[in-house]
Amino acid sequence: MKIFAFSCSPRKQHGVTDSLLNIFLESAEAAGAEVTKHYLTDLNINGCKGCFSCWWGTPGKCIHSDDMDWIIPAILDTDILVYATPVYHDNIIHYLQRLRERTLPLALPEFIVNKGETTHPGRYSRKRKQVIIATAGFPESSAFEVTERLFQGATHIHLPSSVMIEHGKELPIIQGFIQDVKTAARKLAMGEDIDESLGSRLKLVYPPEVKEIIIKQHNEMSAKYTPSG
Ligand SMILES: Cc1cc2nc3c(=O)[nH]c(=O)nc-3n(C[C@H](O)[C@H](O)[C@H](O)COP(=O)(O)O)c2cc1C
Repeated sequence: MKIFAFSCSPRKQHGVTDSLLNIFLESAEAAGAEVTKHYLTDLNINGCKGCFSCWWGTPGKCIHSDDMDWIIPAILDTDILVYATPVYHDNIIHYLQRLRERTLPLALPEFIVNKGETTHPGRYSRKRKQVIIATAGFPESSAFEVTERLFQGATHIHLPSSVMIEHGKELPIIQGFIQDVKTAARKLAMGEDIDESLGSRLKLVYPPEVKEIIIKQHNEMSAKYTPSG
C-alpha cells in the first residue's frame, strides 16, 4: 500500500501537525505501507492562473513547470493521499489550497450531478483514499467545519487544542486518541476500512470540564504576554 503525505504547516518538524502526521505514518509503515512525506512549504508550487489550459489547450497538463510536474503523477500513483494541515482562520492553510487548485488537471471539464450537486468527473479512473489530519488552537470541533466540507468522503482526524498532544500527553483522553490514530493508520495500511465507531473517535472532542481547564491554562499563559492597562 503506497501512502503519499503532505505536511502542510510552515512550522514543519517543530509543529504539532507534523508530530501527529508522524504518529500516523509510523504506524502505517510498521504495518507494511510504503510511505513518502513532503513538507509542502519546501516545494515550488505556483498559483493557478485560471487559464484553463489544462482543460482546453493541453488537456491534463498545466502551463506551469514546477514541482507539480512530479506531484500529479505521484498522486495518481498512490493508494492513500494524506494532507496534514493546521486550521488557519477557520480554513485549511493557504499552501494546501494552492496545491488543491493546481490539481485541476486531474478533473475533466464536463459537468455531472452527484447527489444533487454539480461537479466534475475525474480524468483518471484510478481511485485513492484520502486522509485529512487537521489541528486547531481552539478546543471546539467547529474548527474543522471547513476541512469536513472540502474533503467529503475522506477519513478525518481532528486534534483541537493541539498543544494537548504535548501538554496533555498523560491524560487518558489524549492517549486513547493517539492509540486510535495508530489503529486507523494500521487498518488503512492493510487495506481495511475505518468503521463508524473508530471514525468518530478520530475526531477528538473534549468534555466540558477538560475544555474549561484548557481555556484557563491558555489564558494564564497568554496573560504573561498581554500588556496591562
Ligand atoms: C495565522 C494563524 C491562524 C490561526 N487560526 C486558527 C483558527 O481559526 N482556529 C483555530 O482553532 N486555530 C487557529 N490557529 C491555531 C493553529 O491551528 C494551531 O496552533 C495549529 O495546531 C498549529 O499547527 P502547527 O504547530 O503544526 O503549525 C491559527 C494559527 C495561526 C498561526
